[in-house]
Amino acid sequence: MESSRYLKITGGTPLHGSIRIQGSKNAALPVVAAGLLLGQGQTLTCTNVPLLRDTETMAALLRELGMTVTFENGTVTVTRNGELSCEMPAVQVQKMRASSIVLGPLLAQQGRAVMPMPGGCTIGARPIDLHLKGLAKMGAQIELHHGAVYATAEKLRGCRIYLDFPSVGATENLVMAAALAEGETIIENAAREPEITNLVQALQAMGADVVFKKDNQGIIQVNGKPELASGTVKIVPDRIAACTYLLAGAITNGEVTVTDVMPQHFDSLLAKLEEAEVGYLRQEDRVTVYPSRDRMKSLSVKTMPYPGFPTDVQPQLMAALCLAHGTSVVKESIFESRFQHVPELRKMGAEIDIQGNTAVIRGVEALNGSDVQATDLRAGAALALAGLAAEGETRVHGLKHILRGYEDFDKALTSLGAHVSIEEGESIA
Ligand code: UD1
Repeated sequence: MESSRYLKITGGTPLHGSIRIQGSKNAALPVVAAGLLLGQGQTLTCTNVPLLRDTETMAALLRELGMTVTFENGTVTVTRNGELSCEMPAVQVQKMRASSIVLGPLLAQQGRAVMPMPGGCTIGARPIDLHLKGLAKMGAQIELHHGAVYATAEKLRGCRIYLDFPSVGATENLVMAAALAEGETIIENAAREPEITNLVQALQAMGADVVFKKDNQGIIQVNGKPELASGTVKIVPDRIAACTYLLAGAITNGEVTVTDVMPQHFDSLLAKLEEAEVGYLRQEDRVTVYPSRDRMKSLSVKTMPYPGFPTDVQPQLMAALCLAHGTSVVKESIFESRFQHVPELRKMGAEIDIQGNTAVIRGVEALNGSDVQATDLRAGAALALAGLAAEGETRVHGLKHILRGYEDFDKALTSLGAHVSIEEGESIA
């Protein structure tokens, strides 16, 4: 039934108020998966975990593999007691692409892992060749048949791995595998996202010998241990959710404060807000955007690996740029099909042209409410933001995508004064 639910938004109200930002989905997933590296009888405790479809999927996946997992009031505990299965269940894996980060720790722990090819957002081919190449370099035998990856390695061996691209998922998989491998692993051109730092903190709390070389300039050094022990880690604030709510403030010309955040994790957005002449106040753990007398200015933005501008905020920023003064240019350099929000924004009156991986957005004075379809998580967030600013009623179908990443999205927006509700109805897809 839930697939036919949609978000109804009556736009045009400037948002006002303050919102506590959830823990990071993308940090929680690998940190919880790291529980697979525990020795018998040991427990990993993760606090500030957001209650989302994806975090529940990860908990269910680990349970099916034989781990004991509890998830209460934002705290997840993962305990290993008893035998583990080597076969990742297709149902959970196909729900979420991030399931692929279970492959490395499961293989390291069990010597064998079978993974059906993962699902997730439809934002591009999203291969996992870098994950598999890295594991093969550590001595794993990898075979692909019948739509599944079969990986075996009696004992993974530490080695030097250079990633062709600083893939977030590949870095996570390899750093976890290396934590139980024999000897030293150096991962070069590793991803530097805050979610990686959080994973490294979790591994350190579990007794792993893992450090960033050269002040986190993309080199991670791991000395494998035979097993990891109990530890506790706090999930970092969700920088993508923080950016989304700040942009909800900016697009409605309201005043929105995000609290419990680490503003240094989204400097790239703050720099763009400044360039667009959106006023904001940055404090230690909170940021407020203020209303402006004029429309925001147009921008030129290119998505890049961290600390560059995040691809996960590109659709939401584009929604705001639809109403900017002047012509903006948005270049997507991480994923090849990440403009699926564009035809939907056009239905609302946005003027956007796409050429390859570049979108040119001519700012319009107003958007109009419409029926639009979310095709992936951040596209859905972008359409919701557009709906908040649009005249009249917008219905964002494909709500399930948004709920993969935002805790109580409708309640959060309502608390900021937005007119939104979740309704049952026909999908327009
Ligand atoms: C993670 C985030 C996602 C974010 C992305 C980029 C999670 C759960 N998801 O996804 O929200 O948009 O980082 O910041 O944390 N690639 C390859 N081969 C590989 C791996 C990746 O070609 O083996 C390509 C991908 O197709 C993509 C690019 O590299 O074009 C970035 O992917 P990656 O950094 O791995 O992103 P994810 O870990 O999938």
